[in-house]
Formats: sequence, C-alpha cells, structure tokens
Amino acid sequence: MSIKKIALVKGDGSGPEMMEQAVRIAQEAARLDKIELEFIETPMGWNAYDKFGDTLPPESFKKAKEIGTIFFGGVGDFQHDSTIGVDKPEMRPEARALLALRKELGLLLNFRPIIYYKSLASLANVKPETIPAEGIKQIWVRFLLEDSYFGNADLKDMIPNEIREKIGVKLKSEVTGREKIVADIAYYKRATIEKYIRAAFAYARKEKLPLISIDKANVMARYDFWRKIVSEVGRNEFPDVPLTHQLVDSASALLFTPAKLHGVIACGNEHGDILSDGAASAMGSMGLMCSSAINPETGAAMFESGAGTAPTLAGQDKANPLGRILTGALMLRHIGAEKGALAIENAVNKVLNEGYRTGDIFTKSDDPAKLLGTMGMGEKVIERL
Ligand code: IPM
Ligand code: MG
Repeated sequence: MSIKKIALVKGDGSGPEMMEQAVRIAQEAARLDKIELEFIETPMGWNAYDKFGDTLPPESFKKAKEIGTIFFGGVGDFQHDSTIGVDKPEMRPEARALLALRKELGLLLNFRPIIYYKSLASLANVKPETIPAEGIKQIWVRFLLEDSYFGNADLKDMIPNEIREKIGVKLKSEVTGREKIVADIAYYKRATIEKYIRAAFAYARKEKLPLISIDKANVMARYDFWRKIVSEVGRNEFPDVPLTHQLVDSASALLFTPAKLHGVIACGNEHGDILSDGAASAMGSMGLMCSSAINPETGAAMFESGAGTAPTLAGQDKANPLGRILTGALMLRHIGAEKGALAIENAVNKVLNEGYRTGDIFTKSDDPAKLLGTMGMGEKVIERL
C-alpha cells in the first residue's frame, strides 16, 4: 500500500453529507489500486468562519496548497451571505476560498464530463430519441482562469487610477451599490489560451473525440482572439483532430439535442460556468455533475463540486451525492488509481440502472421504494464497488 495525502474541504450546506459518502467510497475504491488515501481536513467556507472567524483560515490555505490535491465539497450558503456576507463581503467564500485556490494553484483546466447512456435515457431532460444507442460524451473543458472572474483583481494595478475611476473597475467586495458605473474587466492572454487549448486538443486526440470550441467571436474581441489561436494551434499541431467552432448562444440551444455536442468542448471561463450547469441538467440533474480543476504543468488539482452545495437540503439527508462520488472517481484517475476510478463509475451506473434515485432525479414512473437519501445512495454504491 502506498499512502496518498489529500486535503479535504467538507464545505457548506449539504457539502459535508455528500462528502462523507464520497470520501468513504473513494477510500474503499483506491484500495483496489493498493493506495491508502489519507484525508487531511482543511476547513474553508462559512462553516470555517463560524469556527475560526475566516472563510479561508490561513492554516487551511497553506496546508491545501502544500498537499496540492484537494477534495472540495463546495462553499457558500445564502443564509450567511445575507447576514455576515453583507457586513463583510470580503469573506464571501466563493471568491475568498474557491477562486483563490484556483488562482494560487494555477488550475487552468476544468473537466466536467457529461455522459449520456442509452439505458439511462429516462433520467435525461431531453427527448429519449435524441440519445443514440452508443450514448454521448460531452467532455466540457472549461478555461478556469482569467476572463471576467479574475480580470479586475489581475489588471487593477495596471490601469491608472483616473481611468479606473472613470470605468468603475472595482473588486466585488468594494462595490457599495451607489456607484455611477461599475465594470468588470474580462481578458485572455495568448500564452494561457495556447497552454489551455493544447491540453484540450491532446485530450481529444487521446480520447478520439472531435474538439468543439465555443466563443462569441462574432462580436467580442477576446473571443475573436480565442478563435484565431484555437484555429492556429489546431491547424499547426493537431490537424488530425476534427475542429468546429460554435457560438455560445447556439451552443446553449444544442443542449437539447446533446449528440450535436459529442466531443471535447473547449470554452471560456464564464461560458463554461453557465453551459455546464445546463448540460448537467439536460443529462439528468446538477446533482450528477462531477468536476475536476487541473494545472497541466504542476499536476496540482482540485476535485470540486461543480454543482454547488444544495443549501436548502442541508441536514436532511436528501442531497444527491452521486456527483461528488463521481468526482472522487476523477480524483482517483488523476492519482493513478484507475481500477478504483472505474469501479466507482461502474457502481454508480449499476445503482442508477437498478432504478435507485434521489429526489432530484425521481419521476412519477420511478419506484417509490427505490427513492433514497444521501446516505442510502452512498450505501448502494459501496455495496456494488
Ligand atoms: C462553479 C461555481 C463557481 C464558478 C462559483 C461558486 C464561483 O459556480 O464551479 O461552476 O462560477 O466557477
Ligand atoms: Mg457554476
């Protein structure tokens, strides 16, 4: 047995309940590859604020960065947002913890695989006939840095003060609501796009999938730039990988005919944020979404909840843990525990094929005796590992 350390952020809302299942399943599955996972708690989020007065306790941040592999249960809940978050906007954990980790660790690539199986067509929110017998792979690869998420902070110091005032560039925590104008700066750098798109193309080549690049090149300069670089890298380095370009608005319409988005889908930070929620809901539920964020150079990685923390279900044993459990499989694959990763994916498919459902994916035609809570669903997966 070798030991692999993982920083564990249990998170806010239903995060801890879902993570409890995901952690024990990942631990069990990793043993198939003779790896013992050692989870080290690094609390972040509003739960950490309640205990330590900070949504990103320095000790947690330091440890998580050192370990470099993070299993992240999601942060944020609207109760705290509407109380402490109003007085101390700088403490809101989405920016303070999640975005800080992405930036500090250079997590450029965000994988959100959305897989359709014909046998699970009844789960999907699209017409069954839109799902071919061989299924569909939509491997969303979101560009996770720069863009409007980091623009203001990254470029603030490069813009002279009088211009900043004029165009109202502020950090979110500085906005009072009484300004005349507030602008977000969105930017992409050539070097970062090149690094990102090479990794996306390489993945598409390895998986024998086409690459679909999403942008808004018809009107926005940064997406015209994006399309030019993507085309250039494709032509010069990956001529064997079929490449198409898709405008973001028409891409969102294609979520309803998912086979038209079969491939590796490269998209900007904001576009990927929006479209991946829609893609997960079309396939079944946001509760099924798994997500990993990776630095392609250092290998640092965070296995996140793309789907939020389901705060309205917190403490009720109702949230769907399958997205988190599948995120655990992505984590195992990343650390070389391929048998464990496959075992988790197969076990989840088995449970779903046997008709077990959580509330978010339960419909009138499902068997009420097979409606499970968070713990029950975890139990079914572990039995089938
Ligand atoms: C996601 C989330 C985050 C994002 C939020 C919580 C900042 O929605 O991972 O998709 O926008 O990236
Ligand atoms: Mg999102």
